[in-house]
Amino acid sequence: MGHDDPAIEALQQDGVQYPPPPALAAGAVVSDPATWERAAADPIAWWEEQARHLQWDAPWTRALDDDTPPFYRWFTGGQLNVAANCLDRHLAERADRVAFHWEGEPGDRQDITYGQLHARVSRFANALRDMGVERGGRVAIYMGMVPELPIAMLACARIGAAHTVVFGGFSAEALRDRMVDFGATVLVTQDEGWRAGKRVQLKANADAALDGAPGVHHAVVCRRTGGDVAWTEGRDRWFHEVEEAAHPDCPAEPMDAEQMLYALYTSGTTGKPKGIVHTSGGYLTGVAATHRMVFDLHDDDIYWCAADIGWVTGHSYIVYGPLANGATSVMYEGAPGFPEPDRLWEIASRHRVSILYMAPTAIRMFMKWGDEYPARHDLSSIRVLGSVGEPINPEAWEWYRQHIGGGTAPVVDTWWQTETGSIMISPLPGLSTLKPGSASGPLPGISARVVGEDGQEVPRGQGGYLVMDRPWPSMLRTILGDDQRFVDTYWSRFPGMYLAGDGCRVDADGDFWLLGRIDDVMNVSGHRLSTIEVESALVDHPSVAEAAVVGRKDPITGEAIAAFVILRDGVHGDEGLIATLRDHVATQIGPIAKPASIVLTPDLPKTRSGKIMRRLLRDVSEHRQLGDVTTLANEEVVAEIAREAASGQHQDD
Ligand code: PRX
Repeated sequence: MGHDDPAIEALQQDGVQYPPPPALAAGAVVSDPATWERAAADPIAWWEEQARHLQWDAPWTRALDDDTPPFYRWFTGGQLNVAANCLDRHLAERADRVAFHWEGEPGDRQDITYGQLHARVSRFANALRDMGVERGGRVAIYMGMVPELPIAMLACARIGAAHTVVFGGFSAEALRDRMVDFGATVLVTQDEGWRAGKRVQLKANADAALDGAPGVHHAVVCRRTGGDVAWTEGRDRWFHEVEEAAHPDCPAEPMDAEQMLYALYTSGTTGKPKGIVHTSGGYLTGVAATHRMVFDLHDDDIYWCAADIGWVTGHSYIVYGPLANGATSVMYEGAPGFPEPDRLWEIASRHRVSILYMAPTAIRMFMKWGDEYPARHDLSSIRVLGSVGEPINPEAWEWYRQHIGGGTAPVVDTWWQTETGSIMISPLPGLSTLKPGSASGPLPGISARVVGEDGQEVPRGQGGYLVMDRPWPSMLRTILGDDQRFVDTYWSRFPGMYLAGDGCRVDADGDFWLLGRIDDVMNVSGHRLSTIEVESALVDHPSVAEAAVVGRKDPITGEAIAAFVILRDGVHGDEGLIATLRDHVATQIGPIAKPASIVLTPDLPKTRSGKIMRRLLRDVSEHRQLGDVTTLANEEVVAEIAREAASGQHQDD
């Protein structure tokens, strides 16, 4: 773990620090500095206190069941309905309050109130029942950012069916694999989506995926663009038709706290994505509490999480957290720079957005586009800014605070994962003194540590493995259908501790600095991809004999995918083939997985046991001095690859 980031060192030495703005501190949701201590004194009681913010149909009999670690259960015996918590319980006081100010990419708009959302969810829940989905059922969702996406998710929650949302940028193959692994019987999709003025062929991809997923009997298609789509009679139905035909009343039934709410697939270190399982009571407790505290949510806030619901950020902080808290959110369908680079700022100023949450990769892109775009709009309503998905470099942090936050809004750098369900390490904006690039520390009720190879806590200032040494309510319960992989991946390296897979360093003040992944997982624009997934996609092409993939540093996307490919004998490699291979990966996984560069090489650097030395390839990709090559079986190949990489036999978008 020899991470030494000069930028971090420099800033720590500079001692740049921002205390909370006094006005914010005075009225903050969490304003008592003793909160961390109080939660640490009795974490279970702390989480019980948070759970009581929800509406329970039956109280829990046991807050934490830790009889069979690592299979922890929370609030056992308790019953609640997630959709009722997100909708019904707000109706008495805020039926007419806007839940989503939705905006389509072409400029069409809808304000959807809690009352309207409740009505649409109830009908769609009945429509799902009409298609045979019951409690414990499984529904896959493959859509763009349209209102029908949260409606479909909440409809599942209402009847106790689990959903898996597959990001609309994923390919047909990725969708098929997830539907099959999940055991979906119904797919909810859309004719086409809008992205940067282009139409994304969701239904066509869904059709291809459904060919290989015979267990899916119904496809419900939301009409968005009105584009022509193929139709399979008996299987395909229009969303608006089934919604209209369904009975309007669907009383929310109490569900077990441990009822599966959803599984969301994420990349691990093998080629097969993992279905991360989240349940109801603990998950909702975690997302609602953190959404309220980390963003300092007040009743008059207009909140905008500019992520995609297809990722966990959208699940927790567009859908479940904000709705459980009765918040008013902005939801935007399209690309951030369409039709002009100031699209987001125009929307933010029109709605007087006060809390904004996005990924560093987006922030860096806005920086590159130029200060003039946010400057065109009145962003004075913004009072809290959030960052998520990857380490935020101090320059981007400062720019965000200055140009979007008016030089005063605190930036909360929130560290968490699909697995953790909710934010784990983050400042609290009314209390924390911020250091650009640091995520401050574990939230109240969370116990995180940095340990060395031996599992012992490392001294302050030294890097190590980030672990959680106590369970928390929104934690993943297992990997769908693979308890053993759950145990092996997260709980075996250090017994009794959850291994996050990230490197971290705690400074002298106790502040956490996240250092990126310690495994073969890449983070491209805040999206998680494993090197092996991309390698498998490349090797799937008939021209390819072998492939190695690494993530190299990129100023905008954080990491970019660099691929090294050995062609089969007799195949001629040229720019055309490289383009074909890049497209092939996009078809196999999705456009996000397209390698930024492909180097064709006659050989790959391997250890004597045959393991590809990714570290060396990373050095080559980042044009660094090559590290130690003495354990290499085929030493000469590295120089050759370096020559080829340098000679420009690669292609960037
Ligand atoms: O490496 C960490 C990085 O993103 C990984 C989790 O990815 P995913 O499950 O897709 O969830 C992303 C959204 C929660 C982590 O293992 N990561 C996430 N947030 C941060 C981060 N790295 C540094 N700083 C963060 N704030």
